[in-house]
Amino acid sequence: MVVKPIETEVLYVKDLNANYQNIVKGAEYLKKGEVVAIPTETVYGLAADAFNENAVKKIFEVKGRPQDNPLLVHIYKLEQVYGICKDIHKGAEKVFDAFWPGSVTLIFNKKDCISDTVSAGMKTVGVRFPKSEIARAIIKESGTLLVAPSANLSGKPSTTSAEHCYNDLNGKIPCILDGGPCSIGLESTIIDMSTPDPVLLRPGAISLDDIRKVIPNLVYKKNLLSVKENANEENAVICFQEFLKDFKNYEHVYSLGSFKTLNVAAQKTFDLLRECDKLNVSHIYVQAPKDSGLGNSIINRLEKASAGDVINI
Ligand code: TXA
Ligand code: MG
Repeated sequence: MVVKPIETEVLYVKDLNANYQNIVKGAEYLKKGEVVAIPTETVYGLAADAFNENAVKKIFEVKGRPQDNPLLVHIYKLEQVYGICKDIHKGAEKVFDAFWPGSVTLIFNKKDCISDTVSAGMKTVGVRFPKSEIARAIIKESGTLLVAPSANLSGKPSTTSAEHCYNDLNGKIPCILDGGPCSIGLESTIIDMSTPDPVLLRPGAISLDDIRKVIPNLVYKKNLLSVKENANEENAVICFQEFLKDFKNYEHVYSLGSFKTLNVAAQKTFDLLRECDKLNVSHIYVQAPKDSGLGNSIINRLEKASAGDVINI
């Protein structure tokens, strides 16, 4: 059988009012059970109707995502969390007030309406209520709730622009909604609220310090790092602007901006990793920021991207 590649249309949705027709078009694809790349304030999502099993399965196929990796459900108004989750306690409501809508994903026990395909057989589900008005408009217009993992192929960095999405997904999905570059550029912070003490599963857009102000009993176990060095090969370097001068002898050097503006560094990280990927160098060295606030989240992503191959200089 010959599988014909799909024509992928890219529709501009940066201006909610002027581009509303394109949001409607994207929503039409979602209603038909298609997979659409959509912008959020963190990273782009590969979205599908959470209640259409075939649509949900398509996400796993398109991404090449293992089926034991659960999907987040995206909502556009608070009350929807009660429709899909149970055992939501008073403490969680404090977290809603503090961070929703926003870049914190919360995990609760799921209700039966969330399928085992979405939850990958777990009895919990992660719920994301994005800050991005464009993202919320797309969910609302689709008339359902949307599951959406990051819109990259499995194993690649998350996508923070429509161009990244196009590079990974052209010919595989019918539509990419282009909302411009993501304002944060790092995935949401994930907190498991289904346990007696909430557990930070993924540091992210909202810093650990800010979360601790609202959840003082938050549990966070950092992974230990392995240490390994490689030299004598062609390398690329990504470092803070203040350190560019130390890498004068390298051919491929990229700036994360000042170490004083970690929000800028967060926004640039995945973009620069993709740029370096294109170079075909044997190693990409990335300077780690200070291990606090957003720096902690950036370090977590770099560890993941490097599969724990971390050196201390
Ligand atoms: O910012 C974000 O969160 C983006 C945008 C698109 O919303 N989404 C995103 O989804 O990063 P994804 O699937 O790429 O990452 C979600 C992570 C995965 O590592 C998944 O294993 C984990 O959350 N996860 C999802 N549901 C879970 C659950 N019930 N329990 C534990 N981990 C869960
Ligand atoms: Mg992802």
